[in-house]
Amino acid sequence: MKRKQKIVFVAGARPNFMKIACLLKECRCQPAVRPVLVHSGQHYDAAMSDRFFKDLDIPAPQYCLEAGSGSHAEQTAKVLTAFERVCLKEKPAVVVVVGDVNSTVAACLAAKKLNIPVAHVEAGLRSFDRTMPEEVNRIVTDSISDFLFVTEASGVDNLRREGHAADTIHFVGNTMIDSLIVGLEKIREADKSSWASAPLTEFLKTYGVLTLHRPVNVDDKRQLKRLISMIADVAQQVPVVFPAHPRTRKTMETFRIRIPARMHCLEPLGYLEFLSLCRDAKFVLTDSGGIQEETTFLHVPCLTLRSSTERPVTLREGTNILVGDKIARVPGLVRRILRGQARQGRVPALWDGKASKRIIRILVRAFS
Ligand code: UD1
Repeated sequence: MKRKQKIVFVAGARPNFMKIACLLKECRCQPAVRPVLVHSGQHYDAAMSDRFFKDLDIPAPQYCLEAGSGSHAEQTAKVLTAFERVCLKEKPAVVVVVGDVNSTVAACLAAKKLNIPVAHVEAGLRSFDRTMPEEVNRIVTDSISDFLFVTEASGVDNLRREGHAADTIHFVGNTMIDSLIVGLEKIREADKSSWASAPLTEFLKTYGVLTLHRPVNVDDKRQLKRLISMIADVAQQVPVVFPAHPRTRKTMETFRIRIPARMHCLEPLGYLEFLSLCRDAKFVLTDSGGIQEETTFLHVPCLTLRSSTERPVTLREGTNILVGDKIARVPGLVRRILRGQARQGRVPALWDGKASKRIIRILVRAFS
């Protein structure tokens, strides 16, 4: 009997887990291949990792590399050396990496140096801002990957311009939206109160959501103070719920920044809790990448607290507005949203819940 080919999937940080969940599910349905899951351990807290595995029905990983926190070089180096050992042992037919975190680029590099083909899910996104660590990770990962799975048309254009061969570029849609569609169905079926955490229930009518974790926003005292003071203005109009990333919580404490009235600071939420919170929000203020896409799918207005986005389809077709350094505009934009003047937007092409199916079909065809 022919041996099953192994496909190794790598996930390491919170935004990776929703991108691999449906891929693993699809892979398990294919008799010719066997999935092996590797958790790099870049995110390790129960709130940043374990709860996502549970909410997304991701099975326990076969390997945990325990990379943990550290400088970029330290984190990348730990994944690089630990993942090389996994590749040598497992001898996969292909390694699948997702997104743009340090674990993505490290695993990609380790595999390629062993001549193992790499598939990059979410390839081609570009902010054109090389001061963002994620932009460097994206460019390096794409430049050596063999399968470039793209979520939006801009990604195809970027990769073509960078000289990638047409037969390596596959416009397949968005695996994060695959998970979102499954998650929404779970939320609809569940009795909200059975899993919504108690502090949320009082906001369930009218509120905005805030997420903030980018070093450029939270590691600089002046910038963080400016943002929180703007949130204080917004919170005078409507309560703002803020599930705080550990990095942001730490810097707020270090800089002794007071939480304004009606800004409700929570621990990081699980996947389903956060999805439910966003679905029912009047608007979301964020500096995240993925949330720009999730809000577009949910038709919830999104104000992005960054000066560039690698996801331009959310601006062109979705509900996203790039605030840039015009932070003072935000309270006015929120006022318009609350008056019902927000753009509804439309769901981009191929964000239909079938991206993981398309990807696994292509990989199985190539390797079985
Ligand atoms: C990483 C990604 C970023 C992604 C974000 C989502 C890179 C370069 N950055 O940034 O693209 O948007 O994840 O959250 O890969 N910490 C904990 N517990 C954890 C994880 C982190 O307390 O489980 C704290 C640590 O103090 C750590 C800090 O958060 O130093 C930052 O974590 P790190 O993984 O270095 O980067 P993120 O800011 O989370």
